[in-house]
Amino acid sequence: MRIPESKIEEIRNTSSVVDVISEHVQLKKRGKNFVGLCPFHSEKTPSFTVSEEKQIFHCFGCHAGGNVFKFLMEYHKISFVEAVQELAEQLGIAIEVEQTDYAEQQSEQEILYDINIEAAKYFLNNLLNDDEGEHARKYLQDRNIKTQTLRSFGLGYALKGWENYINYVKSKNLNLDKCLKLGLIGKTSEGKYYDKFPGRLIFPIFSPNGRVVAFAGRILDPRDTAAKYINSPESIIYIKGRILYGLSFAKDEIRRLDKAIIVEGYMDLISLYQSGIKNVVAASGTALTDDQVQLLSRYTKNVVLLFDADSAGIKASMRSIEILLKRDIDVKVVSLPKDEDPDSFVNKYGKEEFEELVKKAQNFLEFETNHYQSLGKFDDPITAAEAIRELVKPIAMVQDELKRNFLIKNVAKKFNLREKLLETELDKQIKQERRFTKSGKRISEKRKLVDTNELITDNMVEISPVQYNLEKEILKLLFEADKNTAELIFTYVHAEDIVLNVNRELFQLIKEEYENDNTRGAFTTSGLISGLKDEKQEAYVRELTFDNYAVSGDWEDRFPSVTSEITMMKFAKDSVLKFVVERIDKNIQSNRREIELTENEEKLIELMKANNELEIEKKNIKLELSAR
Ligand code: UTP
Ligand code: MN
Repeated sequence: MRIPESKIEEIRNTSSVVDVISEHVQLKKRGKNFVGLCPFHSEKTPSFTVSEEKQIFHCFGCHAGGNVFKFLMEYHKISFVEAVQELAEQLGIAIEVEQTDYAEQQSEQEILYDINIEAAKYFLNNLLNDDEGEHARKYLQDRNIKTQTLRSFGLGYALKGWENYINYVKSKNLNLDKCLKLGLIGKTSEGKYYDKFPGRLIFPIFSPNGRVVAFAGRILDPRDTAAKYINSPESIIYIKGRILYGLSFAKDEIRRLDKAIIVEGYMDLISLYQSGIKNVVAASGTALTDDQVQLLSRYTKNVVLLFDADSAGIKASMRSIEILLKRDIDVKVVSLPKDEDPDSFVNKYGKEEFEELVKKAQNFLEFETNHYQSLGKFDDPITAAEAIRELVKPIAMVQDELKRNFLIKNVAKKFNLREKLLETELDKQIKQERRFTKSGKRISEKRKLVDTNELITDNMVEISPVQYNLEKEILKLLFEADKNTAELIFTYVHAEDIVLNVNRELFQLIKEEYENDNTRGAFTTSGLISGLKDEKQEAYVRELTFDNYAVSGDWEDRFPSVTSEITMMKFAKDSVLKFVVERIDKNIQSNRREIELTENEEKLIELMKANNELEIEKKNIKLELSAR
């Protein structure tokens, strides 16, 4: 069962983590939080802490923690979906889609789906029946697409001109602004609406359940210099990284054959489908995302990549391989003859030849090895070492240790290398990888103690206590920050100035979130935590947000719940200034030390100059910040 994200959000927002946990654990109020005896390990003094404000729990003893769902999962040993269902039941929130009165968002989604389905019908009708659709019909005929196929995939045609679709929208009394949101129409700076896909062949894009979530439009005239395909923007019903083109058509066959073929293009998929090869999805011209892989992995753990033979295709294959391996998927790669794509191949040689080709798929290691070989990487010891390092990379993604060892043996044998050498490289890469990837944790597994100290002590020796506290203060601020505050921080604090590895990684993560605008204005700690991929990192963030790590004693006064933006800004300026001054002063001091030691006149002058500049920088930043 798939519960919509918005529903999960609603359930999380409606529930109280304190209420839920209180039913199972005796909690006592302490300061802003609640404490009790941890149900996940035995203890005599309470270190299990629950925050109503943050909607999370955390045990300072065993480092268990997370949001309300996580509690239910761990406490009752149930799955995520079961936890959501249980909580929904308690709260009296219905998960069924037919529900009429819940959340405007749901009905907003329905309106958007309706608009899309209307649009798809309209485009299809143009393609089948309009005079102008003739050249599009001819185009598809030339590409050997049968009417039956174009109907199955709901292909369409958008008439030329800027207002045909708009007029249709008006005649149907549909909401123009919603069409705008869906990217079916655009709006000029003068506020005039216009059609988005004129003159293009239309491919509706379906959700796994077969609802139309977006469109792609292809140019028909090869002389057209506009983008070959344009795609709908993301909307509340379309998140690009979570959609695989064709999945709704392919899923049954993928299950039946326990194998999925991934191609690049819409036309590749459609041609293969028409020829009877139906276990295919399309990545739509990019490397796969982890969400897409997760989606696919519900149907099969066996994937064959069939990307174009050009360099873009090879690159996309390499990246996709790593993402697939991380989710324990068995990956094979098919190489197409030069200048063919799956569509042209199947049209030229037919289904049987195509199936032969797929049978000859190489495992990912062979594929990568051949690729490096064809680039001549193994001819020279330096590039060979590099290539081998690259080869170990995907192996490090494989979750199963036995499989990893087997693969390492394979590479060793092939290149006549000592296995030990490869194992060392592998260990190194696995360690690096662990920082960010889910450790393949299963809820049924017994909870292991998470030691966040390991994270912190990683490079603790390199940091002064003052700097240490400032780094944490900056991170804490970011967890609470609104957009303006975050921007201020990102203007003056740079990742490379953050000494502690764990802090720097988190900082970068948050920054990326902001830059990708995933945060929609603000962060919620529980939201961020659920996005973290590493258990230790997750526990570290929770500890950071609880007051155990409060930098200044008066933190509670400084952040009485989520403080107003103005106060927040004031404290951010203060912390940022301290941070910058600390960084500059550290540089100045190290220069001073050198000044005392050096006997070289030139060097001396250089150092003094540098210090002058640092002093000026410090002054300027102080001025800038007080003027903001
Ligand atoms: P290709 O350029 O290989 O096109 O792009 P194609 O699928 O073979 O299309 P035909 O056969 O020429 O009609 C592969 C995929 O990359 C995405 C599309 O999903 C396309 O199917 N793409 C390509 C875009 O999104 N925009 C573009 O401008 C080009
Ligand atoms: Mn093609």
